[in-house]
Amino acid sequence: MEKFLLRDGNEIPAVGFGVFMIPADGSTYKAVRSALEVGYRHIDTAAAYFNEAEVGKAVKDSGIAREEIFITSKLWLQDHGYAAARKALEDAKSEGMIHSIGVSNMTPEIWNRFVPSFETVPAVNQVECNPYFQQRRLRKILDESDVKLEAWGPLGQGNKKLLSDPLITELAEKYNKSAGQIILRFEVQEGMIVLPKSTNPERIRSNLAIFDFALAEEEMDKLRALDTGKGTHDPNAEGVGEMLLANYKVHD
Ligand code: A2P
Repeated sequence: MEKFLLRDGNEIPAVGFGVFMIPADGSTYKAVRSALEVGYRHIDTAAAYFNEAEVGKAVKDSGIAREEIFITSKLWLQDHGYAAARKALEDAKSEGMIHSIGVSNMTPEIWNRFVPSFETVPAVNQVECNPYFQQRRLRKILDESDVKLEAWGPLGQGNKKLLSDPLITELAEKYNKSAGQIILRFEVQEGMIVLPKSTNPERIRSNLAIFDFALAEEEMDKLRALDTGKGTHDPNAEGVGEMLLANYKVHD
């Protein structure tokens, strides 16, 4: 599995297994166990996904050495604010409890407003990104500080139009790969960490099988031209913070 070097010196596997919306009724445990079995070494969860315990149990039961597995979790909005977040993150890093600090859903506006006052420049910013929403403006800002973009919804959250896009279908035929694999390969070749989600064993496996081929530069250019500049989630929108606080009660 290809890895990227983060600005803090740690390495992160280019493909992570996302578990957002996978229920904590045994499904997360099962999905993470099968992901680890087929070779994933990077799992992406959050306090607000309410399935961290199943991720932990799956990792433990897998028998794979803990240091071989990169696990991302996230504080939620209730834990933001200077004292709470600092205590949790920078202290935990200095005590060796965590290795890297990242942020998520920071638009250029949010990044420019907050990050200049951080002691630690985040190693990653996890945002919505897919071939129809390539985050060009944000990527320019992140590149300047060697911050990696992690793509959530890298398959457009299963967007059928994207998965049957003529260019992507044509490339899938050429390389004997699925549309999903072409999309993920494009994103990794662009330098992004990708977090595809699936509960289907065959797709869990195939989403990782993207390191045995490479897209040509002119194909990359054509894929870059699919960008519409528009996504589904706008963290800058009025009331987003309130909506997230109301819908995800991480301390109840
Ligand atoms: P499933 O769980 O049935 O595989 P994203 O990672 O962009 O949020 O997309 C997740 C959605 O895409 C899920 O509905 C998932 O369904 C579907 N999916 C995951 N991998 C693939 C793939 N390789 N090809 C097509 N659809 C996929």
